Amino acid sequence: MKGVILAGGLGTRLFPLTKITNKHLLPVYDRPMIYYPIQCLVNAGITDIMIVTGGRKSGDFLSLLGNGSAFGLKHLNYTYQEGEGGIADALRLARHWVGNDSIAVVLGDNIIERNVNKAVRDFRKQGRGAKILLKEVHDPERFGVARVQGDKVVEIVEKPKEPASNLAVIGIYMYDSRVFEVIEKLEPSDRGELEITDVNNWYIRDGSMSYEVLEGWWTDAGTFESLHRASSLVADGGANLVSEDD
Ligand code: G1P
Repeated sequence: MKGVILAGGLGTRLFPLTKITNKHLLPVYDRPMIYYPIQCLVNAGITDIMIVTGGRKSGDFLSLLGNGSAFGLKHLNYTYQEGEGGIADALRLARHWVGNDSIAVVLGDNIIERNVNKAVRDFRKQGRGAKILLKEVHDPERFGVARVQGDKVVEIVEKPKEPASNLAVIGIYMYDSRVFEVIEKLEPSDRGELEITDVNNWYIRDGSMSYEVLEGWWTDAGTFESLHRASSLVADGGANLVSEDD
């Protein structure tokens, strides 16, 4: 299983912090934001990692991370996203590198308290299809929101005005290699992006989507409020910086 971290985009919601640097290089408490998703994958035993980046300061990722020795890695892979086509558009750039393998995708601004080790193990057992992680939030309209019936997700709606639940789809996704064929069939959404929610709904229709509810806190860090919250949460309680069993 391979890991893909999506760290492109222009980070316009954090302007002017992102005027001269990439959002994922900004500090979250005591380290750059990108450190958290890398550690999240490494903790789950995924060490074959590609970082999809973009923008003018993409070279800074190489200066900062090199071959990943800060995480005990021997090698890191990088690719470059032109423009801002959305999460699914960024993911498609990893296609040739991933080949027929399955993948765990982490959005570069998502930070979790604990780890996804159990979910990754369960997905390996599942063998095909996809898995998402859900978390109860009090502001679901900011996210992709899942409608769940028993052990099945029946639908995900991106940023709904009237959310069907308070279960947000967090930015950690697992897919089999069919994901790249699914992305090729997508049409841009109203915000002009290829949406990861459309990919997830394809797997729901396929009957091969599973879900788990994440333990511990989760936050994104793409707005001033959430960036501030992320730093406070890490400062107060630590994040996924140590490997635990589950
Ligand atoms: C993206 C996804 C959304 C998901 C969120 C998690 O939103 O589109 O479904 O809940 O990440 O951070 P965006 O950050 O692009 O608004």
